[in-house]
Amino acid sequence: MQTVVGIDVGTTKICTLVGEVDNQGGMKIVGVGIAEAQGMRKGVVNDVQKATEAVAASIQKAERTSGYKITRAHVSLAGHHVSSTNSMGVVAVSGDAGISHADIDRALDAARAVSIPHGREIIHIIPRGFTVDGQDGVRNPLGMHAFRLEVEAHIVTAALTALLNLSKCIEGVNVQVDEMVLNSIASAEAVLTDTEKEMGVILADIGGGTTDLAVYIDGMVWHTKVIPVGGNHVTHDLAIGLRLPFNTAEKVKIERGHARARDVESGATFDVQPYAEGGIVRISRHDMAQVIEPRMQEVFHLILTEAKRSGYDGLLSAGLVLCGGTAQLPGLRALAQDEMQMPVRVASPQNLSGLTDVLHSPAFATSVGLLRWGIQEHTPLKTRRSGGEWGRRLKNVLRLLLPDNREA
Ligand SMILES: Nc1ncnc2c1ncn2[C@@H]1O[C@H](COP(=O)(O)OP(=O)(O)OP(=O)(O)O)[C@@H](O)[C@H]1O
Ligand SMILES: [Mg+2]
Repeated sequence: MQTVVGIDVGTTKICTLVGEVDNQGGMKIVGVGIAEAQGMRKGVVNDVQKATEAVAASIQKAERTSGYKITRAHVSLAGHHVSSTNSMGVVAVSGDAGISHADIDRALDAARAVSIPHGREIIHIIPRGFTVDGQDGVRNPLGMHAFRLEVEAHIVTAALTALLNLSKCIEGVNVQVDEMVLNSIASAEAVLTDTEKEMGVILADIGGGTTDLAVYIDGMVWHTKVIPVGGNHVTHDLAIGLRLPFNTAEKVKIERGHARARDVESGATFDVQPYAEGGIVRISRHDMAQVIEPRMQEVFHLILTEAKRSGYDGLLSAGLVLCGGTAQLPGLRALAQDEMQMPVRVASPQNLSGLTDVLHSPAFATSVGLLRWGIQEHTPLKTRRSGGEWGRRLKNVLRLLLPDNREA
């Protein structure tokens, strides 16, 4: 029995999950700790002390529910500082037994040799596909006879300072960071189906502070991006538009918000009392939707622009999959479909057992995804190269590299 821990450090909430993995790979959630986020802005830490306190509260709750002492965890990463690029690595293959793990490692090493600006660190190197002696589209080159091996890899980098600040918050409560995992890649583990990944899909995790994107084609990650706009912006717009304090705006958004004004009856109103001493204010749901809709249209416009910029917009047959807390906004799926002109589905984590009451929600895609990512790392192939810095990074790579051989 393996125990995996994930800490999703979001802009609005910190969620620590403890999962137990049985020998068949099934996962049971045994610990859940959700705490309100502090000291975070647009996915990054902007007050280490406050963020550390929030992380500590979340970890304590998860420890209490699970009875497990948390010493290490997979941690989610977001923020506008994250960027990605694609790179090729080429090596000559030697030996009679065909392409070995070592050859694949060397090819990825070669792909890694792109110039990374000073002050940035590589988070993920994920193979998108291999070319073996000129034959492209090879998924798993292991054991193939060849003279030349090329890998095309997706490389995700992040600002070193942002990484250090995030690590500080986790290590400040005596928990070691096993690995930082990009939000969108973690969420994809929890909500995308294999078929969607094969067909071509764009995942958008619309949280409080950021919208995290990942494009999957042919089963692999081809493109990632963090857009610094999320549900908090909608709440701000409502606070200004309706002259409400932020907390009241947040509450009315969650209880009465709608993303498509034309679907809301124009006469529908409700009353709120924004200030304890103040009077009652009457709010029209239609007016609210008219504030929410353009902001969400902007988010979809940014997603579409990014899909086009990546050059893969024509390959997304499975369309758009939405998760993150904001995906719960009524009418959002229909609005997304209007704006994006592609199939859209809102997704929550599935196939969970144990303490799952709150987790069947789009808001917990990243938290559950961190555990799924963590499980895969425990298979023998993933730990083969653990140890050194590069070996640690390779664990990211190997889990995606040989999906069919996970149990090997
Ligand atoms: N039912 C709902 N309708 C509309 N919005 C909602 C609903 N429930 C939550 N939200 C919004 O979802 C956002 C929080 O989402 P989530 O929990 O995914 O964010 P996070 O992970 O903390 O932040 P991020 O990933 O951006 O750093 C908030 O803006 C909140 O207002
Ligand atoms: Mg999030």
